[in-house]
Amino acid sequence: MYINVLLTPTELPKSSENGERVAIVIDVLRASTTICIAFSSGVKAIIPSTSVEEATGIFQALPPSIRLLGGERRGVKQPGFDIGNSPLEYTPEIVNGKIISFTTSNGTNALQLVRAADSIYIGSFMNLQALSEYIADNHSQSNSEITIICAGSSGAFSLEDACCAGGYVGYLSSFIPTAQLSDSAVASESLFSNYRDNLLGFLQSTTHGKSLRELGFSDDIECAADLNSLEVVPKISGDSIISATLT
Ligand code: MLT
Repeated sequence: MYINVLLTPTELPKSSENGERVAIVIDVLRASTTICIAFSSGVKAIIPSTSVEEATGIFQALPPSIRLLGGERRGVKQPGFDIGNSPLEYTPEIVNGKIISFTTSNGTNALQLVRAADSIYIGSFMNLQALSEYIADNHSQSNSEITIICAGSSGAFSLEDACCAGGYVGYLSSFIPTAQLSDSAVASESLFSNYRDNLLGFLQSTTHGKSLRELGFSDDIECAADLNSLEVVPKISGDSIISATLT
């Protein structure tokens, strides 16, 4: 197994002949954290899209009794949306049994960019151990390639995504000691080792953490820093994100 980290969203290499390509998409603040919370609250499926217009069209085609329209632009809920991108909004009372059409500024774009991978998962600090264990159990063939994609911000590097990617590198390589690591994987892992004991302070200090605090979303950062608090394994299936452990 080879583990690589893409520090900004880039298309996966087209190398399907050599083995299975597994992707983990990370947008700690906040899309991947929100997706994990939604599954812990019983959402049926989330359909990601890259624009507000596309998300609205998908929403309109869903059965009215089970649909929600969620996401953000510039961090805030859009006009006509039922729900924003704050993980704390995704409670069982609101999302249990629902299908959410979902669009965010960076996270859902990153999901679109990796569509060529054989298996695509959504990772956050909250499901770090659960998802790493699931991948080690299901994708540890010697020729598989795990690519961890940091959603970043408008195509640029985001420290919190790289740190979380490093968490996955650390957990996966502890479960599969023969895994080979790229240089970016090693660099990301050292970031995680450096900050793992103060994830909250670390997230608060990042550029996106500061802007979320200015927008009044400090509680979302606390939620995102809650390491290994969820057992969920969100996975892309067709056009939707579903729970891999409930199928
Ligand atoms: C994104 O996808 O860019 C983020 O999740 C933005 C946010 O904090 O809402």
